[in-house]
Amino acid sequence: MRQQIVAGNWKMNNTLSEGSALVSSILEKITHPKGLVVIAPPLTNLLSVGVQLNGHEGFHLAAQNCHHETRGAYTGEVSASMIAEAGATFVILGHSERRQYFHETSEMLAAKVNQAISHSLRPVFCCGEPLEIREADKHALYVETQLREGLFHLDEASFRKVVIAYEPIWAIGTGRTASSGQAQEMHKTIRNLIADQYGAAVAEDTTILYGGSCNAQNAAELFGQPDVDGGLIGGASLKADDFATIVNSLS
Ligand code: 13P
Repeated sequence: MRQQIVAGNWKMNNTLSEGSALVSSILEKITHPKGLVVIAPPLTNLLSVGVQLNGHEGFHLAAQNCHHETRGAYTGEVSASMIAEAGATFVILGHSERRQYFHETSEMLAAKVNQAISHSLRPVFCCGEPLEIREADKHALYVETQLREGLFHLDEASFRKVVIAYEPIWAIGTGRTASSGQAQEMHKTIRNLIADQYGAAVAEDTTILYGGSCNAQNAAELFGQPDVDGGLIGGASLKADDFATIVNSLS
């Protein structure tokens, strides 16, 4: 059965005290989520948010990244095992901001995916095209390449742990969300690629989230599309009311 998920990616926002207040407010407003709710705070908040979420059914903790090696002399980095032991069950990988600002390559991402899986973390693997690729009508091929290079080396059992997030870069933080038709079209394309690679049953079970200016106003329409199984939320995950509305928009 395909899981419905709303994940809040806080990015580099919220100190310990700010994060704690936000989670308290979220937990007050969302008591019985229809799907899984995943919170991805900055690393400094990972342990404390995990403690707050403890015992709240349906709530999970995620990191926003992990390193592609197991351990070693990588100053400033954090490994998958550290994240897992801190209480995370998901890790966001391949976010466009990491690809763009931190030069993460597909090769590194494939290694990060392996690290995550081998430490029982479920990767939330991000893909999505920049504006010029969309305008050249090459977005389907662009995303296909990202999936082939970053994910499709996995065997079926490992792939079944993966959540995919389609986040067109032109929609991230811009207020210019993809239309529900554009989202559905790409989600269907992604599901077809998974079916070709792993078979129809795996494709049917894979959760594919939409991300990019998803908010309290447009979430219900986006989530109402047959191949959109929830969202990866940036800005709107920082406001408890908006985030609760988005979670309640799961169909
Ligand atoms: P916004 O919701 O702020 O557009 O960010 C989306 C995103 O990048 C989530 O990972």
